[in-house]
Amino acid sequence: MKTLIVATSNPGKLQEMQEYLIGLNWTLKLKPPELEIEETGKTFLENAILKASQVAKALGEWAIADDSGLAVEALNGAPGLYSARYGDTDQGRIERVLRELGDNNNRRGKFVCAIALARPDGSIALETEGICPGEILATPQGSQGFGYDPIFYVPSYQQTFAQMTPELKRDISHRGQAFAKLLPKLKELSV
Ligand code: IMP
Repeated sequence: MKTLIVATSNPGKLQEMQEYLIGLNWTLKLKPPELEIEETGKTFLENAILKASQVAKALGEWAIADDSGLAVEALNGAPGLYSARYGDTDQGRIERVLRELGDNNNRRGKFVCAIALARPDGSIALETEGICPGEILATPQGSQGFGYDPIFYVPSYQQTFAQMTPELKRDISHRGQAFAKLLPKLKELSV
């Protein structure tokens, strides 16, 4: 089994990646917390590349990183790269998006997830992006998931992310799509 460092100190994220990468010949490990990488990129992909590359190089191991967020069209792509920092709590972040959007008729938004895989020398072996388009509801609906899930409505399923089963969200979400693209290549590299 090859070791793959997940460029996060968040055990929840490690578990989530494990679920996507089930059955692959990689053993996933968290990066050490003292190894901090500043997210100075201007796009999700730049940040994922930065994290994967720097962690891989510092530890001399394969590393994987993701970066994700919500982009609302009428807010010029906000909260975007600042999705995690748009308020102090999930509720605060949701309230801020709804306040800024007001009664704007354009409710279009999308979740984006970028993933990068770096070789032990820090060079990038794979990069990919998944996008899930949807609409921003005026009132939160549903109690599953996390973050902006209760206001993110997917018209083709007539549900918000927070109303979906975890399995459905895993399949159709930005993260699910990004991992689906990555998986065959990751399989090739693990043999
Ligand atoms: P990061 O990729 O861990 O930096 O997460 C960025 C932020 O985007 C999270 O803290 C959430 O606020 C938001 N986000 C990313 N993916 C999702 C999702 O699937 N549902 C709801 N919010 C999300």
